[in-house]
Amino acid sequence: MSATDQPAPTRLWDGPTRLVHWSMAILIVVSWLTAGKQMDVHRLSGYAVIGLLVFRLWWGVAGGSTARFASFIKGPGATLAYAKTLGSREAGETPGHNPLGAWSVVAMLLVLIVQVSLGLFAVDIDGIESGPLSDKVDFDTGRAFAEGHELSFRVLQGLIGLHLVAIAYYRFWKRENLVAAMVTGRRVFAHAVTPLKTAPVWRLALGVIVAAAFAYAVAKGFRIKF
Ligand code: HEM
Ligand code: HEM
Repeated sequence: MSATDQPAPTRLWDGPTRLVHWSMAILIVVSWLTAGKQMDVHRLSGYAVIGLLVFRLWWGVAGGSTARFASFIKGPGATLAYAKTLGSREAGETPGHNPLGAWSVVAMLLVLIVQVSLGLFAVDIDGIESGPLSDKVDFDTGRAFAEGHELSFRVLQGLIGLHLVAIAYYRFWKRENLVAAMVTGRRVFAHAVTPLKTAPVWRLALGVIVAAAFAYAVAKGFRIKF
């Protein structure tokens, strides 16, 4: 307890998780705004999203405790039990993603993987703009990838919309400021909760190197000469 008798904030999100989240959110908006217009920027921001996704997957197995998939992905029983508490106005006490939010995180990451993967093979209608792997498929297949790329973006938009509605719901109904926690990495809990266990720096360094190397290789269409 602090001097004012307010419980002290508990650390729950590590720096890399927060940085990846906000960078990804900004870059997705950049990809969206440049789609079909400034395609050089569109591809560049897309490669950066690929790097962030690779890093996030690695961080999901090797990162801080609350970033790990095994720590927040729960079965149907726990998810349903949590869903039943949604109507209550009491703030949740999960130091990390709650079981329901966890599934939206999984859905967003999966759709993003589909989104960028389809973009790599996509070709526009006049064959001028294309992804770096589009030469591996014929024109019609490249067009089908482009259609899929646009369709998955609609799904992604839906999930992002749901994400924002959920965050607003927590803010105004449950009085939980999740956004502040995603910015500062800390949140005040009414009861003692297990705090974040951070990962060693070498795992961060390894993740950054692998993610950057992969994004670079993809951008070059895996045609790298040494
Ligand atoms: C989060 C990442 C991405 C988002 C949100 C996104 C979104 C979009 C959208 C909405 C379009 C349709 C534009 C139109 O109205 O014609 C588009 C087109 C395209 N995107 Fe992406 N994209 C992403 C990543 C990528 C990546 C990584 C690549 C490949 C490097 C890529 C390559 C293309 C290509 C070639 C087109 C043109 C296809 C066409 O004209 O139908 N995109 N993208
Ligand atoms: C393009 C837009 C966005 C995408 C794709 C996105 C995606 C995600 C993902 C994947 C996570 C899980 C974080 C992790 O474990 O690594 C997350 C969490 C979160 N996002 Fe976003 N996000 C977007 C925009 C935003 C915006 C604009 C806000 C703020 C208004 C926001 C607030 C949050 C918060 C507060 C969490 C933590 C939720 C919790 O406490 O469980 N996101 N988001």
